[in-house]
Amino acid sequence: MKHFIDLKEIPAKDLRRIIDDAKKRKRDRKKLNNLEADKEAPLKGKLLIQMFEKSSLRTRLSFYLAIKQLGGSALTLRPDELHLSKGGESIEDTAKILSNFGNAFMLRTDSDKKLEEFKKYLSIPIINGLSPSSHPTQVLSDVFTVEEIKKKPISKLNITWIGDSNNVLNSLIDASIKFAFRLNIGCPKNYKPNQKIMNYIKSNKNKIFIFNDPKKAVIGADAIFSDKVISLNDKVNKKKKLKDFNNFKISTNLMKLCPRAIFLHCLPRGTEVDEKVFKSKQSKVWQQALNRVYVQKSILLYCFGKLR
Ligand code: CP
Ligand code: NVA
Repeated sequence: MKHFIDLKEIPAKDLRRIIDDAKKRKRDRKKLNNLEADKEAPLKGKLLIQMFEKSSLRTRLSFYLAIKQLGGSALTLRPDELHLSKGGESIEDTAKILSNFGNAFMLRTDSDKKLEEFKKYLSIPIINGLSPSSHPTQVLSDVFTVEEIKKKPISKLNITWIGDSNNVLNSLIDASIKFAFRLNIGCPKNYKPNQKIMNYIKSNKNKIFIFNDPKKAVIGADAIFSDKVISLNDKVNKKKKLKDFNNFKISTNLMKLCPRAIFLHCLPRGTEVDEKVFKSKQSKVWQQALNRVYVQKSILLYCFGKLR
């Protein structure tokens, strides 16, 4: 049994195995309907319990389809209907029940500490479906999407992030180190990754560069990644933050500086990307969203020790 909380903690060779498995699985089920199980239904009889303490559309749907296509089933708990938190039931007792009734637990939470607490008490795998510090299932799936479209290992490609230093970027930094790809980060001066992450970047001697000018950050890019300037439950002066990011909008003119680049966005979007770019040929956001199903299937199999 393995947990999936942070890309940092997972060996690069295991992340590569997950991507390779997802490629095969996607290819092998071309003619099946969404709810039909893969041929060997490797997680037949298994229950994935998922809980969202923050809003979600894609993660919720993609994990549902992922476990279904592996032959299992999903149950979504509403945090406001549990005794945990308001009712005073402990994480320890909640985790014991989850472990006895289910086979894996996927949690989207506002607290990294909560993920660690659950991990301590669960005897089933826990998957991080987004936390304040990372969004690992999203980014691993995005690596898959880039390789699928560009038909090259990501280590041979240049990736650019334009946006806030948030959970998705943190996971992208982890991915850059694990998969050894060049990552340009374009963000305003006061919004670069925090000191801990900057030290991590330096200590790993990788290929990560920070630019305060988006035009410089996109030169040579094969993929432009972006995300909302204001994240879920972001406790900031929103007006000021949006203004600070005014020069970092993904516009048609910016995309012209990197003509071979695809545009990716984890969604939901805000005002950081122009409608024209979002709906352009360069934009692959719908394919990107759907690929979460395939990669999360292989993440589930990794957690269950069942990767082929
Ligand atoms: N990208 C993503 O995680 O989307 P949701 O918040 O809708 O799950
Ligand atoms: N950075 C965003 C990602 C949403 C999928 C957030 O945390 O809200």
